Amino acid sequence: MNFKKPAAETLYRRVDETADELFYREPRFVAHIDAATIAALTEFYIEFLTPGCDVLDLMSSWISHLPEEVPLGRVAGLGMNEAELAANPQLTDHLVHNLNDEATLPYPDESFDRVNIVVSIQYLVQPEAVLSSVRQVLRDKGAVCIAMSHRLFPTKAIMAFQELPASQRVALVAGHLERAGFKDIEFIDRSPANADPLWLLVARR
Ligand SMILES: C[S@@+](CC[C@H](N)C(=O)[O-])C[C@H]1O[C@@H](n2cnc3c(N)ncnc32)[C@H](O)[C@@H]1O
Repeated sequence: MNFKKPAAETLYRRVDETADELFYREPRFVAHIDAATIAALTEFYIEFLTPGCDVLDLMSSWISHLPEEVPLGRVAGLGMNEAELAANPQLTDHLVHNLNDEATLPYPDESFDRVNIVVSIQYLVQPEAVLSSVRQVLRDKGAVCIAMSHRLFPTKAIMAFQELPASQRVALVAGHLERAGFKDIEFIDRSPANADPLWLLVARR
């Protein structure tokens, strides 16, 4: 196997350590995973979301992949680019917030029933602190879903996601969830054939 495990102290370093505001200044109206992979995620959300639930799409952009079949309450989006978030038709409200500057989410405790993080966890330099805050904003019986795949912005992804094989990346994130206090951590592989993989970690508050 052709990988070099990074030293623990470099796991969360990035090639580009300049302010994230610079990298995300211009909107990117693109899909970050294949259409079949998005369809598989939307299908999974039909099971994961409950009717009327309040959802936070964390690290959001112009698409949230939510199913039309499930009526939802609030759908809040937090990301780095105002134009992308403003163009997202599924969001009921949105804000720009840099989680690498301030890991605490700008929402009151127990605001949401579900938090989704889609193909973005690799950009967090303090994932455990962010996930602790995710737990705080979830209500009793709330749950988080972290969707992972294999594409990334190489200069902005933490070293762990550049160097570790997929199974170790999933294990790393599962460890963050556990240390953030989440329960019933489950790995679900919904990768479609001949398309980007879809690896899901689901956990209860
Ligand atoms: C690959 S895109 C994925 C967007 C979206 N979740 C999707 O499924 O298409 C990465 C997202 O992470 C967000 N992001 C990156 N760094 C961030 C940070 N420091 N704080 C908050 N959001 C961040 C960006 O705004 C961007 O929308």
